[in-house]
Amino acid sequence: MEQQKRYGHFDDQHREYVITDPQTPWPWINYLGNEDFFSLISNTAGGYSFYKDAKFRRITRYRYNNVPMDNGGRYFYIKDGDTVWNPGWKPCKTPLDFYECRHGMSYTRIMGRKNGVEASVLFFVPLKKWAEVQKLTLKNDSNETKTLKLFSFEEWCLWNAATDMENFQRNFSTGEVEIEGSTIYHKTEYRERRNHYAFYHVNAPIQGFDTDRETFVGLYNEFSDPQAVMEGKPRNSHAHGWSPIASHYIEVTLQPGESKDFVFLLGYIENEQDKKFSAPQVINKDKAHALIAELDTTEKVDKAFAELCEYWDSLLNIYKVRTGNDKLDRMVNIWNQYQCMVTFNFSRSASFFESGVGRGMGFRDSNQDLVGFVHQIPPRARQRIIDIASTQFPDGGCYHQYQPLTKRGNNDIGGGFNDDPCWLIFGTVAYIKETGDFSILDEMVPFDNQPGSEVTLFEHLKISMDHVIKNLGPHMLPLIGRADWNDCLNLNCFSWDPNESFQTTENVSEGTKAESLMIAGLFVVTGKDYIKLCEYLSQHRDTKTQSDNNKTSVPLCLCVDFKAEAERMQQAVDAMIDAVKKHGWDGEWYLRAYDFYGRKIGSNECDEAKIFIESQGWCTMAEIGAEDGMVAKSLDSCKKYLECEHGMVLNNPAFTKYIYEYGEISSYPEGYKENAGIFCHNNPWVIIGECLAGRGNDAWSHYAKILPSYVEEKYQTLHKVEPYVNCQMVAGKDAFKPGEGKNSWLTGTAAWMWYTVSEFILGIKPDYDGIRIDPCLPETATDYTVSRRFREAEYEITIHPNGAQKGVKAITLDGQPVTGTVIPYSPGKHTVEVTM
Ligand code: BGC
Ligand code: NOJ
Repeated sequence: MEQQKRYGHFDDQHREYVITDPQTPWPWINYLGNEDFFSLISNTAGGYSFYKDAKFRRITRYRYNNVPMDNGGRYFYIKDGDTVWNPGWKPCKTPLDFYECRHGMSYTRIMGRKNGVEASVLFFVPLKKWAEVQKLTLKNDSNETKTLKLFSFEEWCLWNAATDMENFQRNFSTGEVEIEGSTIYHKTEYRERRNHYAFYHVNAPIQGFDTDRETFVGLYNEFSDPQAVMEGKPRNSHAHGWSPIASHYIEVTLQPGESKDFVFLLGYIENEQDKKFSAPQVINKDKAHALIAELDTTEKVDKAFAELCEYWDSLLNIYKVRTGNDKLDRMVNIWNQYQCMVTFNFSRSASFFESGVGRGMGFRDSNQDLVGFVHQIPPRARQRIIDIASTQFPDGGCYHQYQPLTKRGNNDIGGGFNDDPCWLIFGTVAYIKETGDFSILDEMVPFDNQPGSEVTLFEHLKISMDHVIKNLGPHMLPLIGRADWNDCLNLNCFSWDPNESFQTTENVSEGTKAESLMIAGLFVVTGKDYIKLCEYLSQHRDTKTQSDNNKTSVPLCLCVDFKAEAERMQQAVDAMIDAVKKHGWDGEWYLRAYDFYGRKIGSNECDEAKIFIESQGWCTMAEIGAEDGMVAKSLDSCKKYLECEHGMVLNNPAFTKYIYEYGEISSYPEGYKENAGIFCHNNPWVIIGECLAGRGNDAWSHYAKILPSYVEEKYQTLHKVEPYVNCQMVAGKDAFKPGEGKNSWLTGTAAWMWYTVSEFILGIKPDYDGIRIDPCLPETATDYTVSRRFREAEYEITIHPNGAQKGVKAITLDGQPVTGTVIPYSPGKHTVEVTM
């Protein structure tokens, strides 16, 4: 194998990825902010900030797919004599004597050195604050006095990120700013309906400023050579319309060895309607002053940063493994969990591949993201479940997406994705198992956010299941609707018009026979969960709240006959299993679907795309036909037809032509995205199928292929995107460049990788009454320990695999033998030994 160039490495002790060359194969980004105020930041400080919603409250401007790539961000220009440079190399690209970018847990530190001056910037969003801190430390390492000219730079977005890039006839006339001391305020549209403004502050006197972009940059110059900076002269410009920016100018003198801190603060403020102004046309700055006062010294900022680090300590202490394999430990203990928080926060809205304007929070996406996050901050997961369920319709269908700011369903995309409802069960069950909080089922949740329409959350789960049952096709398999998990398998959308979106054009439901085996498997998996939940509720509903040693409380007010409900659903699940066995099996694998006309998709009879991964994953997770050898055959077929060096592709062989009856899936060139790309998201489904079947060696080999730390070691250049997180898609074996990654960060892969490794490979699985221990490991696995905080308890669980791939022989809890594989929950500290 050709020796690949390296651009960085892991620093596990600091939980950082250290980038040592700014010219990474693609911008390698990080996320700042944990709730409400967020920023994206690349390894050269590119990116942008927003409040809650990347579309409706964009604070700073960013131009996607720009030339050069990743142009625009928070920049510091340092003019030292005739040399102008930036600590993050861009945009001036002046060669640096030293460069380093450390992406950590919700912070990024970028450091550059040039001609004896070191500039280090720490970027983070303090907990519970609506602001990005940029702490710049300038240090003179030379033995002469340095007189530097420092310019900061941010470009304001006119709030709505979509119209900001579109409606220039208006935009060029609306921009407004105010300048007060060392603070530049952005107040476009504040005069009318907006109750929010932003500011950019520095905790030092300034010797000049600029707020008009063209005056600062010069119409024919670029971010790499702004006129004001090149001449070392701020213009003190005041923006009226056009493109408002914020730039401070500071003259800095540093003696040899001397260093100085500057705290820059990008903040966001909301005012009450009657307190918007302090004088006619003058914004009320009280809240801004207060926020600035909280973060205007190095000490205050360092303290806020320490709090952020402690916060991450505590989050990452909930599940910690020690296997002795650094590559596994760092993903489980650090990066996989970190990515789960990010996907929980952003769903698929804002990354360097998701522009923040197209997609809000997905109904299915967010339920899945929740499963990767629920152990971290259960109350936030709880709220999310309620928000998601509130976008459901009375018939169990739902909006496919909603906007985080308004929490309202997104009308542009609408509904009709027939897998969506099932995911609500997946998310809710995970939440209850983690917390023991059954009371969530009692929450009154509206339909389509309409006040007065509320029913219990349990009722929402019920109608979710019913939505599948009421929408069965000719083979008694679920009708696919607009699409299932695979948004590109558009079996009821027939389009020859390139101006139509596959996602929203037509959903010919009349006369359709299009059925999905993926939904069939999903229905069986979530159906079994639903049945267990009902059975549990029927057994415990009267006793649970009174029992003293148990903190769980089962809703008593529900007028549901849970026993009958469990039986009803068991029949539906059994019927679905029968239908799959009868009409969903192709001999060596599960079919994928039936098309509009009732013809097989994903069958050996097809010319192309004979086998698909989704139905193999879901039907093996559902263990459909395991007793008849179907599961084992399906898993073998995945290895035989789907697996390659970089993971398992989505379908094989790839489509080589557009198929009008199938839609977007066949629109992609071979090996990319849904057409035979390695959709990392669904590899874990097969891996879980392997785990349930007890095939630990196979499970591990599939897992390691898409585990970022393994990819990092082998394929930094080829893979291109960030080596510390999963990406949605890696080019498949039929692609021009197999192994090339795309669409990093915001992908269900994060949650599925977490769910797979934490619960199925390492085998620590929360359950209603305790933790189920059931690992599935490669036979080479050695002893390992998992520290798991669970509700009010802390478990130290040591597993002795003894060469077994599966099968727990004996468990002791605090020295006492346990029957079965569930360690019963009780608060306090416990030691668990597991022999396989
Ligand atoms: C992508 C899918 C995505 C869908 C909806 C398609 O173009 O290929 O991955 O789910 O758009 O946004
Ligand atoms: C990405 C979408 O976010 C997700 O909902 C979908 O399931 C996959 N693409 C597959 O199409």
